[in-house]
Amino acid sequence: MNQETHRLAIGCMGLGGGWNEKAHDKNHITQAEKVIETALELGIRFFDHADIYARGKAEAVFGEVLQSRPELREKIFLQTKCGIQLPGDPPGCQQGRYDFSREHILDSVEQSLLRLKTEFIDMLLLHRPDPLLEPEEVANVFEQLKQSGKVKEFGVSNHTPAQMALLQKFLTVPIASNQMEFHLLQSGMLDGGISGSKGPMDPPGLEGTIEYCRLHNIRLQAWSPVSKGLLSGQKYKGKDEKLKERILNCSRKVGEFSKKHKVPAEAIVVAWILHHPARILPVLGSKNPERIKNCAKSLEVHLKREEWYELYCLGRGTNLP
Ligand SMILES: NC(=O)c1ccc[n+]([C@@H]2O[C@H](COP(=O)([O-])OP(=O)(O)OC[C@H]3O[C@@H](n4cnc5c(N)ncnc54)[C@H](OP(=O)(O)O)[C@@H]3O)[C@@H](O)[C@H]2O)c1
Repeated sequence: MNQETHRLAIGCMGLGGGWNEKAHDKNHITQAEKVIETALELGIRFFDHADIYARGKAEAVFGEVLQSRPELREKIFLQTKCGIQLPGDPPGCQQGRYDFSREHILDSVEQSLLRLKTEFIDMLLLHRPDPLLEPEEVANVFEQLKQSGKVKEFGVSNHTPAQMALLQKFLTVPIASNQMEFHLLQSGMLDGGISGSKGPMDPPGLEGTIEYCRLHNIRLQAWSPVSKGLLSGQKYKGKDEKLKERILNCSRKVGEFSKKHKVPAEAIVVAWILHHPARILPVLGSKNPERIKNCAKSLEVHLKREEWYELYCLGRGTNLP
């Protein structure tokens, strides 16, 4: 199954019952099954995981569903990530860190395969850039994983163009995707490239990410595509007054367009991402079937160029030109 055919993906970070030490139970497996069923009914076949989500429980509940319904595996494109070590791993080590070492990548993939109860992973992403990266080492591990058939394709997440270029120089496989935070309230990947007009929240190094990915056939994926619901009904509880104002102004416009296009607010927020010509893949994080359906309505929306810009400017909080 080629990743290019997918327009929407389901992010599984919320599955498995949370990041606590408590084991998952039957309800969490049922919840995962409902999410998978809802997605497949909507034609969404791409599922995004990470070894660390809910401390492994997100992959574990997903694997339980695959074990009880093995016919589902061939209908699903399964992506997972490695490279983050949480505090407490191994026991006694309190420092959270990144780890692209051979040992960690191989171990993480083995554990993910066991939890997901699958023979192979369709796409493996390096989760967050590791400053101690040895690109030759990663190249060697990726080659081994590819040869063994355990991983079909490889990609990265939260990587800048320079980080991707360095890694690709040594890899024998192409970097096929880059998963970035991208939504109306975090449009830094666009802002840096717009002449003389930086947005308010640009994390450093994002400039040129979209162009680099388009030039090198790297599929961009957008995490937190609905801004955690802040533009579609979820109340902002923080103290940042400027952000509060941006949320208010942008969500008003989202509401207006939702009425105009006769779709739920979430659909407008996701449609804004889909409208970008780079064919960015929104990774929807909801575990609520109704909200997933609302998001999928984005595929029916065609925003006009001026509507897309109105949302963009309100989301970032500054006007153009
Ligand atoms: N690569 C990375 O570093 C990275 C980082 C973060 C996430 N991710 C991936 O991206 C996926 C999506 O991220 P995300 O979960 O932040 O995305 P999101 O789709 O923007 O947000 C989904 C979350 O917001 C809640 N939500 C949405 N609308 C709401 C509303 N109107 N009212 C109340 N709550 C609402 C959902 O709750 P319900 O479940 O109740 O709908 C869910 O917890 C993750 O699952 C993961 O796969 C990757």
